[in-house]
Amino acid sequence: MRRLFIPIAIFCTALSAAVALLQDTKEGRAQSAPAAEAAPIYVMPKSGPFAPERIAIPQGEYIAAWARSGHSDAASESFSHWNADGVIPPVCAVCHSGAGFRSLHGLDGSAPGLPAQPVKVGGVVDCETCHNAGLASITSISLPSGISHPVDGGELSCMTCHQGRAAGVTISRAVDGKAEDTADPKLTFINPHYATAAATLLGGYGGMGYQYPGKDYSGRFLHAKPVASCVSCHDPHSLTVAEETCLTCHASGKPADIRISRISFDGSGDLKKGIRGDITANASRLKTMIEDYAVKVVGVPLHYDGSRHPYFFADANGDGVADQVDGKPVSYNAWSPRMLKAAYNWKFVGSDPGVHVHNPHYALELLYDSIEDLAAPLGVDVAALGLIR
Ligand code: HEC
Ligand code: HEC
Ligand code: HEC
Ligand code: HEC
Ligand code: HEC
Repeated sequence: MRRLFIPIAIFCTALSAAVALLQDTKEGRAQSAPAAEAAPIYVMPKSGPFAPERIAIPQGEYIAAWARSGHSDAASESFSHWNADGVIPPVCAVCHSGAGFRSLHGLDGSAPGLPAQPVKVGGVVDCETCHNAGLASITSISLPSGISHPVDGGELSCMTCHQGRAAGVTISRAVDGKAEDTADPKLTFINPHYATAAATLLGGYGGMGYQYPGKDYSGRFLHAKPVASCVSCHDPHSLTVAEETCLTCHASGKPADIRISRISFDGSGDLKKGIRGDITANASRLKTMIEDYAVKVVGVPLHYDGSRHPYFFADANGDGVADQVDGKPVSYNAWSPRMLKAAYNWKFVGSDPGVHVHNPHYALELLYDSIEDLAAPLGVDVAALGLIR
C-alpha cells in the first residue's frame, strides 16, 4: 500500500475535456516526478486532426473504473447540492470535493483544518484526493467522537469521508441534564450523515453510535486479515466489491446471505438467512417501538420520511402524513432524550448500507440496547421478545 504514496502526481479533471496524465514508467506505474517538470500527455490534443487510437491513455483502466463510480459523478446530490450557491461551505467541502479534502489535510499548502474560504462547486473525489504525496505523512485523523484515530495511507482517505458527522457524544451533550422521558422542543434530530462505513467499521472504538452507559460494545470489526481494510474489499476506483473476494472463506458471495453466527439475534430462530436479516428485523422492531413511544409516552405521533431531511416529522393527528405549516412538513418537535438516542441509533445503523459486512455485531448491540431502553417506559417485556444481544 505504501508505494501508492510515492509522489504520483496525477491530475485528473474529468469535467474538462483535457485530462493530463503523467507518463508511465515501463512497468506501467505512474512516474514520480514533480508536476512542474513533467511532460503531460493530453487525452484530447489541442488541435486536430483527431486520431483517438493514437492517443495514449496509460491509466485508462483506472480512469474508466473511476469514471463509472459514484466518486466521479458530478451530477449526484453529493456533489451538486450546492450548485445554485456556486460554493460549498468549508464544513461540507472537506468531504464533498477533492479540493476541500486537500485543504483539510493541508495538502494544498494551507494549514491543516477547515478551508479558510468556501470551496468552488464542481469538484468530485478526484484522483489527487487519494494520490497525493503529502498523504503519506499523515498518521491520524480525528473522528466526530473527538477520538484521534491512527491511519495508514491505504485507509486515510476513505476514513476521512466515510466517518459520518455525529457521534454518541453529540447526543449526550444535546440531552445533558434533561429528564429522560420529557419532550423538549429545543431538541432536534441529530443525523449521523450518510454512507458512514468507517464509523460502523470502527464500532465501539470510534464511538459513533450512541453507546448506553454501563454496556460494552464490540470494537473495530477486524473480520479476517486479508479483508480488514476498505480497499481489500472495495476496488478503490470502481468502488465495487467482487463476489470472489468473499468466496475464499464464505459459502456465498452475496453479502446479504452470509452468516457465521449460530445465534438468532432477532429471536426468529432462523439461522439460514444472512446476518443482515437479523439486523433488518431488529431495526424494524426498534422503529415500531420509537413510533409507539412517540404516541404513548410523549403524546406526539411521528412520521418518518427517508427521502427528506430531517427525516422525522410531526404527525399530530396520527394520520400517517406529516403535518404541514406554510406548505412545509413540520420537523418532529417533541423529542425526549430517550427517544432521540434510540432514533439516532436506528438511523446510524441504517446510514450504512454495508453495516452487516462492516460491523454486524456493533449494529446488533446498538439496536438491542435501544430496544431495551425504550421497553421500560412502554411496559414491554424484553425477555419475552427472545432477542439476543
Ligand atoms: C473526499 C471524500 C471521499 C473520499 C476520500 C472517499 N469517498 Fe467514497 N464517497 C464519497 C462521496 C461524497 C460518495 C457519494 C458519491 C455519489 O453519491 O455520487 C461516496 C461514495 C462511495 C461508495 C458508494 C458507491 C458509489 O459508487 O457511489 C463507496 C463504496 C465508497 N464511496 C467507498 C470509498 C472508499 C473505499 C474510499 C477509499 C479508498 C472512499 N470511498 C474515499 C466521498 C469520499
Ligand atoms: C465527514 C465527511 C462529510 C462531511 C463533513 C459532510 N458530508 Fe455530506 N456526505 C458525505 C458522504 C460520504 C456522502 C455520500 C452518501 C452516499 O453515498 O449517498 C454524503 C452525502 C450528502 C448528501 C446527499 C444525501 C443523499 O441523500 O443523497 C447531502 C445533501 C450532504 N451530504 C450534505 C452535506 C452538508 C450540507 C454538509 C455540511 C453541513 C456535509 N454533507 C458534510 C460525507 C460528508
Ligand atoms: C478513493 C481513492 C482513490 C481515487 C479517487 C483514485 N485512486 Fe488510484 N488507487 C487508490 C488506491 C487505494 C490504490 C492502490 C490499490 C492497490 O494497491 O491495490 C490505487 C492505485 C492506483 C494505480 C496503481 C498504482 C500502483 O502503484 O500500482 C494507479 C495508476 C491509479 N490508482 C490511478 C488513478 C487515477 C488515474 C485516478 C483518477 C481517475 C485514481 N487513481 C483515483 C485510490 C484511489
Ligand atoms: C469485508 C469486506 C469489506 C470491507 C473491509 C469494507 N467494505 Fe464496504 N462494503 C462491503 C460490501 C460487501 C458492501 C455491500 C453490501 C451489500 O450490498 O449487501 C459494502 C458497502 C459499502 C458502502 C455502501 C455502498 C452503497 O451501496 O451505497 C460504502 C460507502 C462502503 N462499503 C465503504 C467502505 C469503507 C469506507 C470501508 C473502510 C472503512 C469499507 N467499506 C470496508 C464490503 C466491505
Ligand atoms: C479470509 C477469510 C474471509 C474473507 C475473504 C471474507 N470473510 Fe467474512 N468473515 C470471515 C470470518 C472469520 C468471520 C467471522 C468474524 C467474527 O465474527 O469475528 C466473517 C464474518 C462475516 C460476516 C458476519 C457473519 C455473522 O454471522 O456474524 C459477514 C456478513 C461477512 N463476513 C461478509 C463477508 C463478505 C461480504 C466478504 C467479501 C467481500 C467476506 N466476508 C470475506 C472470514 C472472511
